[in-house]
Amino acid sequence: MNFKTLFYGLAIALFAFNCSSSGDDDMTAQPDPDPDPTPTEKVTYNADIKSIITSNCTSCHGSTPSNNAPMSLTTYAQVSSYINSILDRINRTGAGKMPVNGTLSTTQKNLIQKWKDDGLLEN
Ligand code: HEC
Repeated sequence: MNFKTLFYGLAIALFAFNCSSSGDDDMTAQPDPDPDPTPTEKVTYNADIKSIITSNCTSCHGSTPSNNAPMSLTTYAQVSSYINSILDRINRTGAGKMPVNGTLSTTQKNLIQKWKDDGLLEN
């Protein structure tokens, strides 16, 4: 074997290796595996809770409570201070359930629970 044969042999081997190692792998796009795009999103009173209370509770728990409701639920301070009692009442199905004539959706109940778990943030 002379030098020239060795050189061509190496060149061909390198060429073949190059071709076989550059397959179509780069073309196969990996699916984005992010199952929860906003895992750090926190529930806050102003963004999530206030509107639920306004739509379902303040007809009785207004700034002047009516229909025998004992307290008002119109401010962050009031709603957050009653959080445990609110969670108890919205999860009841019988006596003392709130709202009196209905039920919150599961989504709404979960938001109020998560608001507590996230630390009762105002904003
Ligand atoms: C139709 C009027 C009405 C609506 C609407 C209503 N409530 Fe009430 N709520 C009352 C009355 C009357 C009471 C007092 C009787 C009782 O304790 O069950 C009360 C009591 C409560 C209590 C107990 C207070 C305490 O001293 O422990 C909580 C908490 C409460 N409501 C939360 C809510 C929430 C949260 C909503 C909305 C999801 C709501 N209520 C909607 C009339 C209402």
